[in-house]
Amino acid sequence: MFDSAAGRETLLEINNIEVIYNHVILVLKGVSLSVPKGGITALLGGNGAGKTTTLKAISNLLHSERGEVTKGAINYRGEPIQKMDPASLVKKGVIQVMEGRHCFEHLTVEENLLTGAYTRTDGRAAVAQDLEMVYSYFPRLKERRKSQAGYTSGGEQQMCAMGRALMSRPETILLDEPSMGLAPQLVEQIFEIVKAVNEGEGVTFLLAEQNTNIALRYGHYGYILESGRVVMDGPAEALRENPDVKEFYLGMSEQGRKSFRDVRSYRRRKRWLA
Ligand SMILES: Nc1ncnc2c1ncn2[C@@H]1O[C@H](COP(=O)(O)OP(=O)(O)OP(=O)(O)O)[C@@H](O)[C@H]1O
Ligand SMILES: [Mg+2]
Repeated sequence: MFDSAAGRETLLEINNIEVIYNHVILVLKGVSLSVPKGGITALLGGNGAGKTTTLKAISNLLHSERGEVTKGAINYRGEPIQKMDPASLVKKGVIQVMEGRHCFEHLTVEENLLTGAYTRTDGRAAVAQDLEMVYSYFPRLKERRKSQAGYTSGGEQQMCAMGRALMSRPETILLDEPSMGLAPQLVEQIFEIVKAVNEGEGVTFLLAEQNTNIALRYGHYGYILESGRVVMDGPAEALRENPDVKEFYLGMSEQGRKSFRDVRSYRRRKRWLA
């Protein structure tokens, strides 16, 4: 079990970063966060809050989007990683699972998983062993291993993308919106697997989620982003009990459950934006 009081080593440290798209659109306005080894850290926030941008800033995927980190620092194990290309970062142990679960549609599930091992140099036997490791967490992928990825379900594709990341033997996975477009039961299954991989393999997660409820149930610590700023952070348990989080993100209040529409109309009252 993860114990936040145990004073874990910090793997990833983001210090006051600013991200600008197309030279003019300021999207992240001084975001700082730290990701402890062995934990599940949740990056929360609604549509367009800046979650994906933060993950892409870490894994250096902003260039293709005409985005740039213009201020601040990003360190992994105390080393600056801003100049590192995504492949070198994978070798360092950091891999991103993109939003929208990108699998190679024309390859089979197993071929997709094997592409995840491309940066490895430790031989076929080790890769074969890890394929079995991945199948132990994702039995569904084993059943579907000969199927063309493009014909598998959304949940299976999410699993395939996560399994492929695991094949690089990462220390840290940046997981973007794993719940997107999946039925609640499947979302629960995916998060159970995240938990199992975190506990069983010791993989550290930084996961971006709009689904605050599930992310705070499985995450150990959370950061809430709004319009490119961290507006609140704390241990998941504390955030779950926080009245503002309950009202604005979990759709609950003293009076009981609120509909999303009600919550939206109450947004003006938000203390942290005042
Ligand atoms: N390539 C881009 N060029 C210009 N603006 C962009 C680009 N990508 C994202 N943005 C803007 O940056 C802001 C943050 O977007 P981002 O995708 O990081 O949010 P998000 O929190 O991941 O949202 P979602 O939950 O919808 O995925 C949004 O206002 C978005 O319109
Ligand atoms: Mg996003």
